Order: sequence, then structure tokens, then C-alpha cells
Amino acid sequence: MKTFKTVAAMQRAALAWRRAGTRIGFVPTMGFLHDGHMSLVRDARRRVGQQGKVVLSIYVNPTQFAPTEDLAKYPRDLRRDYALCGAEGVDAVFLPSDAAMYPGKAEGRYSTYVVEERLTQGMEGVSRPTHFRGVTTVVAKLFNCVLPDVAVFGAKDWQQAAVIRRMAQDLNFPLKIVVAPTRREPDGLAMSSRNTYLDPDERQQGLVLSEALAACRRAVQKQPVAAAELKRAVTRLVKTRPAARLDYVEFFDPECREPAVTVRRGTQMALAVFVGKTRLIDNGRL
Ligand code: PAJ
Repeated sequence: MKTFKTVAAMQRAALAWRRAGTRIGFVPTMGFLHDGHMSLVRDARRRVGQQGKVVLSIYVNPTQFAPTEDLAKYPRDLRRDYALCGAEGVDAVFLPSDAAMYPGKAEGRYSTYVVEERLTQGMEGVSRPTHFRGVTTVVAKLFNCVLPDVAVFGAKDWQQAAVIRRMAQDLNFPLKIVVAPTRREPDGLAMSSRNTYLDPDERQQGLVLSEALAACRRAVQKQPVAAAELKRAVTRLVKTRPAARLDYVEFFDPECREPAVTVRRGTQMALAVFVGKTRLIDNGRL
């Protein structure tokens, strides 16, 4: 397994692979890897084949964190990440520094960002107003470093995946975006690097997100239900957990991505809940 730490070294390798006709599959991450990330690696491998190259990037991107957020304490464990990548047959890890990704930023010279203006308006974009600008910027930059044929993202971050797919289309990136299903713990909690912040009691209360999804799925099985009614039910459910505070719950049409007034089978649901100081998100098709 190779490591590339500079943009030039990563691009050199990627260009050589492409010239040789080798397909490149890419999984961007912020590290502290878990089986959700590794399922994306397996998906990338299936798509590029044994002859192809799977590249995983580990970069905790400062521009997607607001000043009040957890950039400084975002969990890191490179040794463990490398062990997982080795076991899964990753070909190369791209591990850039801040200076490599944002040249001149410390001196105030860095000044180019990528902004998606429509899909970023709701949900995560409301709670974290500067977040998606950082995500689209870093992902566009990572694509220019790794030059992938296919990039795999997780449905866990549903809005992020939609925004990136839009960006790739709008900016004519010559690659395929794949969105792979959310991996969960056996009790239903969506795997996340941030789950490590939860103490055992909070970990238990964090199940309220997957429980809310299951409850809404049951509620619309037989007939459609008004979104307002389901929002009230989710608010009540979250209130039964003393450490939990609902940030948002939204329902929308998965095709047109418009808010749903009436929720039925097939409607997409997404929610964010603070459990103690930790903000968890989850989503699913009802
Ligand atoms: P990170 O949170 O590390 O997630 C990296 C990728 O793993 C994302 O595509 C995310 O959706 C996916 N993922 C996370 N948990 C998952 C789960 N339980 N099941 C399946 N996939 C899961 O998302 C980011 O990093 C960053 O915003 C990034 C795209 C790397 C840009 O900095």
C-alpha cells in the first residue's frame, strides 16, 4: 500500500495509472475509519476490479467545520486506519497536509471555493451554514488530485451525496459518483466516526434516530400521513430521551428533493439530533 502526501505525487501516480488504462476508484474520508467507510472501499473495488486501483484519502478538512465545531478534537487514529486499509486491499492512501490542500491559506492568499447553491439550502445547510462550501471545495480538489473514474460516497450523508452528485454534473467532472447504503451497528445506530464521542448512556439514547426512522416507516405503511403530524411524533419521541435534542426532521421527495407535505412509502426522511454535545444524523427511505 502506497502513501502520497503531496498533490504532485498523487497526481503523478494517478496520471501514470490512467495512461496505462488502469481504472481508479476513490473513497474520500476524514479518517477514524469504521466499517461504513470500508464498505465504500469494497464497493470501489468491485467497480474497478482487481486490476484497478482503489485510493482512500484521509483529510480532516478545516473549511467544512465552523469555528464552534469539533475540528480540533475530531477523532484520529492513523495507525488503526492503515491497518483497516491494508486488510481491505486499498492500493494507496492520499494523506495531504493543510499546506498541500490549501496552499497560501495561512498567508491569506488562498481564495477559490466551490459553492452549490440549491441543494445546500435546507437541513445540514441551515444548521451548518458554511459546511457544504467546505465539502464541495475539498471534494473538487480531491478529484483533481486523485483523478478517479469512480468516486464512492455513503448514503449516511444523504444531502452531501446529492450535493456532490450535482457538483460533479454541473462542473463536468469526468467521473461516476456512486452512493452506497448506510452501514449500521447491530442495534441500528448508523456507524459514524463521531459515535466515539458518546458515553454508554448517550450511545443508548442515540438509538432514537433509527427508532424515529422505523416509527415513521411503520406509520406510513398503510396510508399517507401529513408531514406536520409525523414531525410532531418525532419531536415527542426524541423528548423521551433526556440527553437528546432534535435539531431538525425533514421529509422530502427523493426525486425532486422538494419538501413533502404528505409522507408516504418511498418518501425520504432525514433528521439530526444532539445527544449530549454530539450531533448525530441519519436518514432513510420510508
Ligand atoms: P467522513 O465523515 O469520514 O465520511 C466519509 C464517507 O464515508 C462519506 O461518503 C460518508 O457518507 C461515508 N460514511 C460515513 N458513515 C457511513 C456509514 N455508516 N455507512 C456508509 N457510509 C458511511 O463525509 C466526509 O467524511 C467528508 O465530508 C468528506 C466527503 C471526506 C469531505 O471532507
